Amino acid sequence: MDVFDKCEVNMGPLGEHADQSEGYYMFPKLEGELSNKMMFMGKKRLIWSLNNYLGLANNPEVRKADAEAAAKWGLAYPMGARMMSGDTKYHEELEAQLASFVGRPAAYLLNYGYQGMVSVISALVNRNDVIVYDSEAHACIIDGMRLHFGKRFVFPHNDMENLDKELERATKLVEKTGGGILVITEGVYGMAGDLGNLPEITKLKDKYNFRLLIDDAHGFGTMGPSGAGTDEHFGVRDKVDLYFGTFAKSMAGIGAFIAGDPKVIKFLKYNMRSQIFAKSLPMPMVFGAMKRLELLREEPSHREKLWTIVHALQKGLREAGLNIGNTASPVTPVMLNGTIPDATQITYDLRENYDIFCSIVVYPVVPKGTILLRLIPTASHTLEDVEYTINAFKEVKKKLENNEYGKEFKIGIS
Ligand SMILES: Cc1ncc(COP(=O)(O)O)c(C=O)c1O
Repeated sequence: MDVFDKCEVNMGPLGEHADQSEGYYMFPKLEGELSNKMMFMGKKRLIWSLNNYLGLANNPEVRKADAEAAAKWGLAYPMGARMMSGDTKYHEELEAQLASFVGRPAAYLLNYGYQGMVSVISALVNRNDVIVYDSEAHACIIDGMRLHFGKRFVFPHNDMENLDKELERATKLVEKTGGGILVITEGVYGMAGDLGNLPEITKLKDKYNFRLLIDDAHGFGTMGPSGAGTDEHFGVRDKVDLYFGTFAKSMAGIGAFIAGDPKVIKFLKYNMRSQIFAKSLPMPMVFGAMKRLELLREEPSHREKLWTIVHALQKGLREAGLNIGNTASPVTPVMLNGTIPDATQITYDLRENYDIFCSIVVYPVVPKGTILLRLIPTASHTLEDVEYTINAFKEVKKKLENNEYGKEFKIGIS
């Protein structure tokens, strides 16, 4: 066998539909200014797929800060990994600002959230430690755990009874190994928009000895009175030991950070392989992040606008009889019953007949027979966008119920 043989025979669960989907359902190309309306395949569409929650992607001040930093520093500086030759006082300044914003004494930058999380996990645990994690954890958490040599116990999504059982099991095990327990959950679950049950999880700290790490990729900038995240929203910040946020969503940038106790952050700084062995964030990312953070901190109007859109969209969809599950965040899933071919027919209909572009999620990410159309409201949407979309979804729901969609996989590209 040639290792490349599989590339033709087995494209994997996502690649399986590549020939029919690429360019339309997968790897679509959105063109034009990042905003509520963008061009897709030559036509202007209403876009509900960008995690540009606060609308900062195209904010003039942000664009100016990005451009000025690029003009002054270029994209090369600093060269090398931070440990070797790529550190600057500006990286440290941004870390201090991030730490203060999320109410922690220290923070460390990560080049990408995904890689950063992998290394946070793999650096923190050794073979004597046990990880207990939520079954719907993001891929970066799963992949971080793949590098863990010790045991890991999963609990069904937000099932607190089960978490209690797993913690009991983990406690017995670490009594033998001499290790510790790390619980990992998310602040906001990015597919369904529901929140990690932080109040109950943190309560279990009275019963068991564990450290808690939360991935708040979707909560940072959107949740809590000051936008500082889901732990702020629940008022449990002092019980969350490590807080992870990314710049890829509310901040509309690149990069991420981990915040917590200074001794743990210092340990991570010296032990996260994806950061030690990779180039430091370039200056435009650093200065760009500082500007975004300033807007998060000082201009609550972006978050207020976001939530006006979120409330209008979610209320309207619920009133129209659509199932949006248990979302308590901006992420708005519309759950319909149907097959993968139905999902392609609906997405095609929305895109071509209503000019609405949203992401589609099917089995194995959601149970068989469920179609999840994920809408991401942002501060760049308008109430007219919301009304238009609710009406379109009402019509789509009716068509699905009346079996008006064809039974075959709808190929988007003709
Ligand atoms: C829950 C969660 N964690 C981590 C990441 C990875 O972040 P990044 O895009 O900065 O690599 C994402 C998003 O992409 C995410 O949704």
